[in-house]
Amino acid sequence: MNRVLGFVGEGLQDTLKGRRLIRRDRLILSPWARRKAMELSSNFSPDDLNSPVAIADPYPFFRHLRARSPVNYIHLPGGIFPGIDEPMRAWGLLKYEDVYGALRDHDTFSSAHNPLIEKGVVPPLVLVNDDPLRHSRLRRLVNKAFTLKRIETLEPWIAGIASELLDEIGTEEVDTIQSYAMPLPVKVIARLLGIPGEEYVTFKRWSDATLSVTTITLEERMTNIQEMMAYFGKMASARRSQGAEDLITALVEAEVEGESLEDWEILGFCLLLLIAGNETTTNLLGNILNILVDRPDLWQQLRENRGLVEHVIEETLRYESPVRELLRTTTRAVEMSGIKIPQGETVGIFYGAANRDPSGFPHPDEFRLDRDLRQHVAFGMGIHYCLGAPLARVEAQITLNTFLDRFPTLRRGSAPAVRQTASPVVFGFQHLPLLLDKGGY
Ligand code: HEM
Repeated sequence: MNRVLGFVGEGLQDTLKGRRLIRRDRLILSPWARRKAMELSSNFSPDDLNSPVAIADPYPFFRHLRARSPVNYIHLPGGIFPGIDEPMRAWGLLKYEDVYGALRDHDTFSSAHNPLIEKGVVPPLVLVNDDPLRHSRLRRLVNKAFTLKRIETLEPWIAGIASELLDEIGTEEVDTIQSYAMPLPVKVIARLLGIPGEEYVTFKRWSDATLSVTTITLEERMTNIQEMMAYFGKMASARRSQGAEDLITALVEAEVEGESLEDWEILGFCLLLLIAGNETTTNLLGNILNILVDRPDLWQQLRENRGLVEHVIEETLRYESPVRELLRTTTRAVEMSGIKIPQGETVGIFYGAANRDPSGFPHPDEFRLDRDLRQHVAFGMGIHYCLGAPLARVEAQITLNTFLDRFPTLRRGSAPAVRQTASPVVFGFQHLPLLLDKGGY
């Protein structure tokens, strides 16, 4: 047995004994202990920061590399996209202070310059890839249309959709990502944009094509995006002649100091909503369920005290941030944590790493409900702060309350949960099978 224990290291042996994981002369490793053991036996190279292993579980990497941050790492290996043969390197910010500082300093950390956009690998997005003054103008106009009131009005409808989706799924094992966490945000955005119910299936096809990088060809993707843009274009001009109760009408009508949005900006904004609002929310919903399924006591506590729902959502945003990494480019040489980053370099902002920095959040690897979470950066900070944060929070609240109403317990299914590993941008599940016990509901 000592040989086996030798492998996991002395410090961990004590912890394992303390946690009573050694039974009847056999070492039984819990998933937590297995992860710790792996961690102790691994090398954490910055160049692996965006490897599939580190996309699926970045936290050991963040823990081991944070002290050396900013780290120079491979953001994208060569040979994945046409025209990018060499690895694309960047500076990774893993400390809370550096991430916060870069997000607030949009003059030094530009969103408009992005090597992947310049090489034609990803399309530029309005707002997200704009710097002031263009960003300020667009954001002012869009803020006029994407209001809290609009979201509040949508709440009963979202609650209805949440119930409908759960009515459709059986009582046995259910992949909660595919059956619930994916369709809910797509339906919400379709509704926001004013897409009629019967056209939802087409919209879903467009949205899948827009979001899918790996499962369809580039040509198929472009065809779908063009079809969708033509549809939104028609809709925008129809709304210009006769308004309706939807976001496109509000965008068409939005005016600040004599300025309004042009059609191409409205189309760009519709595309942005699909990209920025779907997978992020899916990941938040999946991450919440994944955290709670292993905490049955907390589930019971939540069923009795719904006042805790909001804390659970905020702590999930910190503990398993759905947006993992986005890029900036330095407009001048800058020093962070004593390390010089030259002008014109690509910088990776790791939101989830900042949210697990002990200097920002004591005992960051513990999921706790007694924290001050006002400063977490899961929705960003500064001028690019997430426009959809209130909507994402509403979708999460409705989801959690609906699940709590219906299911006395949550259990893991027999099939394994699978984290997505295709994109370093987001952190979430591809599959999360759960047993939903309706308990006579
Ligand atoms: C849990 C869900 C979500 C998370 C974690 C999230 C996260 C983020 C983050 C980190 C940013 C900042 C990007 C940056 O620093 O450059 C951002 C921006 C943005 N998000 Fe979200 N988001 C979520 C849901 C949504 C939803 C539902 C929508 C809309 C329907 C949305 C729309 C946007 C837009 C338009 C921006 C760009 C804002 C700007 O550049 O001014 N997001 N989001």
